[in-house]
Amino acid sequence: EIYFIHEVKDLIAFYGSKKSEFLILGGGSNVLLLDNINRIILKNEIKGKEILHEDDEHVTIRVGGGENWHEFVQWSLTQGYSGIENLSLIPGSVGAAPVQNIGAYGVELEEVFIRLEGIQMEEGILLSLNKIACQFSYRDSIFKHSLKDNFFITYVHFKLNKKFIPRLEYGTIKELLSKKAISTPTADQVSALVCEIRESKLPNPNVLGNAGSFFKNTIVSKEKFNLLLLEYPAVPHFSTDSDQVKIPTGWLIEQCNWKGKRIGDVSSYEKQALVLVNYGNASGYEVLNYAKLIMDDVEEKFGILIHPEVNIWK
Ligand code: EPU
Repeated sequence: EIYFIHEVKDLIAFYGSKKSEFLILGGGSNVLLLDNINRIILKNEIKGKEILHEDDEHVTIRVGGGENWHEFVQWSLTQGYSGIENLSLIPGSVGAAPVQNIGAYGVELEEVFIRLEGIQMEEGILLSLNKIACQFSYRDSIFKHSLKDNFFITYVHFKLNKKFIPRLEYGTIKELLSKKAISTPTADQVSALVCEIRESKLPNPNVLGNAGSFFKNTIVSKEKFNLLLLEYPAVPHFSTDSDQVKIPTGWLIEQCNWKGKRIGDVSSYEKQALVLVNYGNASGYEVLNYAKLIMDDVEEKFGILIHPEVNIWK
């Protein structure tokens, strides 16, 4: 650990501390590369899980940012710890998880997050940030804004449950549970269900190139939503807080007839329009151009600007 921190400090001293010198890579699963990169790429390989605190109900664990996320989820289940089973099979690393506040099937990382440690690149100093400091919101955090490319997350601290509290409110989970006639699932069963849902809907990045959801879901005002409802009574939606509504961007894209439409080697995935896939040889720019065509069509048809969720590197 001490060796690693010296390594990073030496790098900063050698190359200068300007954040433009560095790019920080987690698992690489949420990145679209446009060009060759002329910066120093720091790939997090910090491993380890350490129990910091434990009582009858909870456990606090400090996890190396270079651990694979899904392996951490599986490990926690084998220890009898729950809270992240709905986040099973999300590609990427533990250190990258807070950057976009990963979320799936009704659970977001911030719910189990305590704090993280890391190095602020510009100053070369070690910092510990708590939940408030990380400024989490839907697929967002301070690491996408003022600390973008400027903070190397070394360790993340999680608070997990020892007594399982199932989170089954998400539609597809409910449907699969009733189809399988399971009324009180275990955490392992929920994890297995989530894996089953993901495998049935989402392309495996090891088989078909993709970076998960290419766009964020869309948050609109209640007024805008009510106008949409008049024209599209079947628009799927989730309420967020009192005056905003979340609309699945996959639905907007599908309504614009982009689902499964292939241009060269790029396509919106046939089973989930929100995911863009690369059938082999598409360049990063081709993927980006395809995304821009979708964005233009959605804006023209619905008057809504949709926003990429992937990190675009050039
Ligand atoms: N929908 C369509 N057509 C599509 C896809 C979706 O109409 O092609 C509509 C349907 O109404 C469906 C609804 O969208 O019921 C929701 O779809 P889904 O459950 O697949 O989830 P999502 O909102 O499209 C989000 C996350 C996923 C996460 C799932 C499950 C974002 C950007 N994406 O997708 O995360 O797995 O919910 O919780 O929030 C990722 O971030 O890479 C990712 C895959």
